[in-house]
Amino acid sequence: MRIVRTIADLRAALSPHRGETIGFVPTMGALHEGHLSLLRTARSENATVVLSIFVNPTQFGEAADLAAYPRTEEADVALAAEAGTDLVFAPSPAEMYPAGFATSVSVAGAITGTLEGAVRGRSHFDGVATVVAKLLLAVQPDRAYFGAKDAQQVVVVRRMVSDLGIPVEIVARPTSRDDDGLARSSRNTRLSAEERDVAAVIPRALRAAQDAFASGIRDPHRLTTVVRDELAGAGLEPEYVEAVDADSLEPIATAETPALLALAVRVGEVRLIDNVVLGVD
Ligand code: PAJ
Repeated sequence: MRIVRTIADLRAALSPHRGETIGFVPTMGALHEGHLSLLRTARSENATVVLSIFVNPTQFGEAADLAAYPRTEEADVALAAEAGTDLVFAPSPAEMYPAGFATSVSVAGAITGTLEGAVRGRSHFDGVATVVAKLLLAVQPDRAYFGAKDAQQVVVVRRMVSDLGIPVEIVARPTSRDDDGLARSSRNTRLSAEERDVAAVIPRALRAAQDAFASGIRDPHRLTTVVRDELAGAGLEPEYVEAVDADSLEPIATAETPALLALAVRVGEVRLIDNVVLGVD
């Protein structure tokens, strides 16, 4: 496995492998089982597997969140090698955003205005879309792998790739969860032991909504109220809990499949997101 830090070195390293399939997993590092499941899928479906590790400053709202984001490159490289990665692209901010950088890829409309976009602002997804576009153009993979945990990100990336005609297949993979159901996240390492226990209510709350859906409830407000009540029982007040159309992310009058039920909640200082597709997950 090789590590490269510039786009020029990345291109040179990949040029002998063009013509065979290239699978790409973009990450911000602090790798956990969720990332590794994406890498293993990429490994099983492609001749060459590329991982990027780049904590993208332009998608962070709060400077404190960016500063606190875990950076564990040495451990990441070892885990990536074990998962069968061929090439790691770990650029510096100056490599990705050289002096004078002035371009932004912005996805407009409901898909960036709701959920995370409503709380973190559209600039979050401008940051994501711009860095993912730049990474896809640098790697030029056949397939790029994303996690359903960041459901809105998948919708935004699919829209951007379709609109710009970037020739890549976007593959979304299920959310990887700890034994108690908590979605794996690089941010989980910042939870105290007590906070980690409290956070386990999140998957229970989503499961309760799935149960309500299974029992025939289709009113989005009633379904989100089930989630809010469960969270409140553990002393958590979510930033949002919403049921939206899973493809357009538009509001829905009734939660017919496929509807995405998504939430964000702070546990202590740590902001966590999770979601389920009603009737599917
Ligand atoms: P990051 O949070 O590091 O996540 C990298 C990829 O791993 C994303 O596609 C994310 O959805 C996926 N992932 C994270 N936790 C997961 C879990 N528990 N199960 C399955 N997949 C999971 O998402 C980003 O980085 C950035 O926004 C990025 C796309 C790299 C652009 O900077």
